[in-house]
Amino acid sequence: MSESERFEPLIIGFTCNWCSYRAADLAGTSRMKYPPNVRLIRLMCSGRLDPTFVLKALANGADGVLITGCHPGECHYLEQNYKAMRRYYLLRAMLTQMGIEPERVRLVWASAAEGARFAEEVTRMVEDVRRLGPLNWPAIAADGAEPAASRNGHGPAAAAETAPVVPEEAKP
Ligand code: FES
Repeated sequence: MSESERFEPLIIGFTCNWCSYRAADLAGTSRMKYPPNVRLIRLMCSGRLDPTFVLKALANGADGVLITGCHPGECHYLEQNYKAMRRYYLLRAMLTQMGIEPERVRLVWASAAEGARFAEEVTRMVEDVRRLGPLNWPAIAADGAEPAASRNGHGPAAAAETAPVVPEEAKP
């Protein structure tokens, strides 16, 4: 595949005003290089992230969503980032059920001083999502096409095929 045909994923990045947004700012002002595929949306705290924001981003054309916030124990609103973490795991489970690779959503902690870490994580995520290929949720919804994860041999359909068969008498 030529360079011009290379798939460029669109990543939506949710940042916390106090830490990860400043890390992104630091990466920019320090002229650290990272792929331009990420569009940042600043929230006051990762705890403000409603899981529907992530689903809407994916449904409207994003190929991946990066959620970032202050390190555990450093949230400016006490323990809201722990709530974000719980929602993140639920979200990943929900995406798997929907046949979407959970790797398309990632949670990263970054303090205001971690511009380099922020740039590295964005770079890694863009590479990983590029490997997964386009999500194409709008087309899936319009055509009823198979979700990407099922095409790749992941997701609930694939999981059902490989799920162990539990004999009736062994069930609780
Ligand atoms: Fe940064 Fe809560 S203030 S995650």
